[in-house]
Amino acid sequence: MKTHIIILAAGKGLRMKSSLPKVLHKVGNLSMLEHVIKSTKFLKPSSVNIVVGKNSKLIQDSIINSDLNWIVQDKQIGTADAVKIALPNIPNEDQVLVLYGDTPLIDETLISQFLSEGSGSDLRVLTTTINNPKGYGRVIRDTKKLEYISEIIEELDASEDQKNITECNTGIMYANANFFKTFISQIENQNAKQEFYLTDIVNIANQSNKKVFGFHTHDFEKVSGINDKLQLAQAEKYFQALQRKKLLSNGATLLDMDSIFIRGEVDIQKDVTFDANVIIEGKVIIGENVQIQSNVKLRNVVIANDTVIKSNTIVEDSEIGTNCRVGPYARIRPNSCLDSDVTVGNFVEVKSSTIGKNSKASHLSYIGDTEIGKEVNVGAGTITCNYDGVNKHKTVIKDNVFIGSDSQLVAPITIEEGVTIAAGSTITEGNYKDSLIIGRARQVVKKDWKRPK
Ligand code: UD1
Ligand code: CA
Repeated sequence: MKTHIIILAAGKGLRMKSSLPKVLHKVGNLSMLEHVIKSTKFLKPSSVNIVVGKNSKLIQDSIINSDLNWIVQDKQIGTADAVKIALPNIPNEDQVLVLYGDTPLIDETLISQFLSEGSGSDLRVLTTTINNPKGYGRVIRDTKKLEYISEIIEELDASEDQKNITECNTGIMYANANFFKTFISQIENQNAKQEFYLTDIVNIANQSNKKVFGFHTHDFEKVSGINDKLQLAQAEKYFQALQRKKLLSNGATLLDMDSIFIRGEVDIQKDVTFDANVIIEGKVIIGENVQIQSNVKLRNVVIANDTVIKSNTIVEDSEIGTNCRVGPYARIRPNSCLDSDVTVGNFVEVKSSTIGKNSKASHLSYIGDTEIGKEVNVGAGTITCNYDGVNKHKTVIKDNVFIGSDSQLVAPITIEEGVTIAAGSTITEGNYKDSLIIGRARQVVKKDWKRPK
């Protein structure tokens, strides 16, 4: 049986009070629309049809996936119209799953549960119970056969009694394409909003003795629609709670399980500890026995075993080797690679650089476009002067070099193996293996000198 997906994403999203289209707002750093598309992958759908509004270039450009059909709804005159314009390309005998772009936390588990029940019916509707159901369509069950639904009433059209119903329509529906084609065309817009409500299909189908099965889920968080910033923040909170549980079940120790934020993917080995307020973005891979201290941000990073990332450190698009000490207050910028047993201490910035085994830059340095060998000591306050105002240049520091504190290395430059640089030097040539290089003005002492009054 072939399944086609229709995702409704044309609504203006006025309640978000934002110029960004609603479905591009993010949960866990992934747009709501991408979450919905991702949740259907397991079905291997024959087509994924996304209904968008007229100015949807931003939405279409946000997703690099040529297998999507974009369908433009000129005017947002209701959810029934949105589904209707997506139907012509779908063969009558195939099945259609309707999802909403503003319901991003739906997942594979719930979709498969939903599709596994009610197979004798003509239309299946996913419902949930919401204690404060304001804004949702209320589900009226068939009093004779409770698994069936006779009607869905929208908030604005509901009587006071109906408003007390807490079983709500999630908007998610499943039926044969022919069923949708037959009954959607009968929907009218005589209601409070003068919109063509997809939910009216339930009542209309009942009048033709069709069976509408209501599948109820207790996981209301997974099917909550996001219409405003409060609901977006609540969805983020729920999503983070799920990510944390996943991390804990993979064996992580979270010293404060409410303050790690995963906006991407994280793979961990055994005995990884996270202290409070850690942010993970993109793809992060962490080896065994790694400690991530408080206030750390990691973005697209690989960290090998036994390393400690100390407090207030930021690491982006880089690789950290085994048994390293990074931070506190270190910043590792993109394209950096630390070999094993490296120390990068406080207020050290590393950019597009490699640092060899057992080397140290413990305090207050800038290391940019640099290749550092093994067993090198970079003294406090050392700066690689990589930029001449127009171009960037490379610094190479070979094995076993000792750089005295507060030195500047003017790139392009190579410091040969075994060189010692005297503290406070400005170095422009370093090609003298095993030498002591001093590049500073000699001290002058004027005895018995008094400051003018
Ligand atoms: C809708 C349902 C309501 C349900 C709730 C669940 C209807 C009439 N109401 O209400 O029963 O409880 O979702 O969250 O269906 N859209 C279009 N084109 C349009 C109108 C809407 O593509 O012309 C899209 C929106 O972008 C959104 C979805 O359809 O993704 C739902 O529209 P929205 O306006 O958010 O409906 P709700 O008032 O939330
Ligand atoms: Ca909605």
